[in-house]
Amino acid sequence: MSERADVDRVIIFDTTLRDGEQSPGASLNIEEKEQVAKKLARLNVDVIEAGFPISSQEDFDSVKLIAETIEGPIIAGLARAVPKDIERAGESLKSAPRRRIHTFIATSEIHMKYKLKRSREQVLQSAVDAVKLAKTFTDDVEFSPEDATRTEPDFLCEVVEAVIAAGATTVNIPDTVGYTMPSEFTRTIRMLKEKVPKIEQATISVHCHNDLGLAVANSLAAIQAGARQVECTINGIGERAGNAALEEIVMAINTRKDLMGVWHDIQTRHIYETSRLVSNLTDFAVQPNKAIVGRNAFAHEAGIHQHGIIQEKSTYEIMNAEDIGRTAGELVLGRHSGHHAFEKRVRELGYTLSAEDMQKALERFKAVANKKKEISDRDIESIIADEVYVVPETYHLDYMHVVAGGTTTPTATIGIRRVQNGSGDTLKQAHLGVGSVDAVYRAIDSICQVPHTLLDYNVKSVTGGTDALGEVTVRIQSDQDKVFIGRGASTDIIEASAKAYIQAINKLVYHTSAGS
Ligand code: KIV
Ligand code: ZN
Repeated sequence: MSERADVDRVIIFDTTLRDGEQSPGASLNIEEKEQVAKKLARLNVDVIEAGFPISSQEDFDSVKLIAETIEGPIIAGLARAVPKDIERAGESLKSAPRRRIHTFIATSEIHMKYKLKRSREQVLQSAVDAVKLAKTFTDDVEFSPEDATRTEPDFLCEVVEAVIAAGATTVNIPDTVGYTMPSEFTRTIRMLKEKVPKIEQATISVHCHNDLGLAVANSLAAIQAGARQVECTINGIGERAGNAALEEIVMAINTRKDLMGVWHDIQTRHIYETSRLVSNLTDFAVQPNKAIVGRNAFAHEAGIHQHGIIQEKSTYEIMNAEDIGRTAGELVLGRHSGHHAFEKRVRELGYTLSAEDMQKALERFKAVANKKKEISDRDIESIIADEVYVVPETYHLDYMHVVAGGTTTPTATIGIRRVQNGSGDTLKQAHLGVGSVDAVYRAIDSICQVPHTLLDYNVKSVTGGTDALGEVTVRIQSDQDKVFIGRGASTDIIEASAKAYIQAINKLVYHTSAGS
């Protein structure tokens, strides 16, 4: 077997921006989606599923933008098996040099009876019609029989055969509710290969959800049984318990070449930076023990392990941290670290900043280093999330003064400058509150007067110690039901809270007409 035979190539179809973005609370705005798409292209995924264009004007616009600007991967848009969805997807994708329409309809009895209220014949006809219509927009058409793993096997074969005859070039077998298990999924893929005439005319793909924690195991079993496309997301984000994690599938294929016998084109050294970006933008923390990208994935605590590692790395490590873009040892910077050391570390962490953003981050780094002895990688990420990945400021926090403690009613005095469309004067307000943060937020509200609801307020310490940076994340919802995340980092958590709130308000103002 030639090591890189075409038949052994696994297509990596990333759906972070579609299924991943469907996770409750993970919503990304159009600029953030473009940033993620750029990173995915750098990672060299084969297909980026950029969104579900019919679902909203925003989704349509972001698929269109990604189709216009991202070079390399095929850009896919999702569409139900109905003409208006397919036409909308076709329209949003039209400037992509390589585009795919991914159309789907549920085929399990339970979905057909209760959700679609349609017979098998009607569903089969819609599937075929959808593929034929999609073919008028692009040759590259993928079809998914939703809830395939709970679909009656003969009907599944019949649908797959019919959509291939109608022109589908990829047939995706979704485990929509994360119900299957590796041995069963192996049989499903084998059955399709054995029973469906002309199955070789289409690529078999799989799309596994993680409700039983088996999404990656099921995807790998399917590859071993002959699937040649896997659908996955960065950090495994997605509906409910999520999708199969791209980084786990890719590293399993690399690490167990002996068993898997397949290859992919992913540039694994960009995995870590992509994972961090997705985690920072969605504000979905990666659990510390998460495989490949978790904070502890390459940390060795037990003395006996550390001893083994020092003697010979392979005693306890099956992968190299460097292969996924993680640096072996965490380097700690401090007040005496110059700009070279800082910039080098920022680049090593995977950020590509403009000169202006690097300068902003550097200034902030120096300010934090003056208050805090050691600056860790997480501190640097926090500084970048706080200072760099933000929209232009409408409101800028000039100063704040908070009186609290004992029997005092917390009182905040805030000065905010309206940077855009304003006189540039600092507006001042003082407010009482039930706590310091409440007083600060009330004072900010009375200056900015941007209607919204505060959905969520979260504070965490980035590293240990009383001088740690506190990172505050807030989610606010506009009166048009759009959610915006703001982040602030400071050694003082009240200041971090104010910054996070103002950042979220700035995003809301920038992305809607409110406040203009
Ligand atoms: O989980 C699922 O079935 C899907 C389909 C649209 C492929 O996301
Ligand atoms: Zn899904």
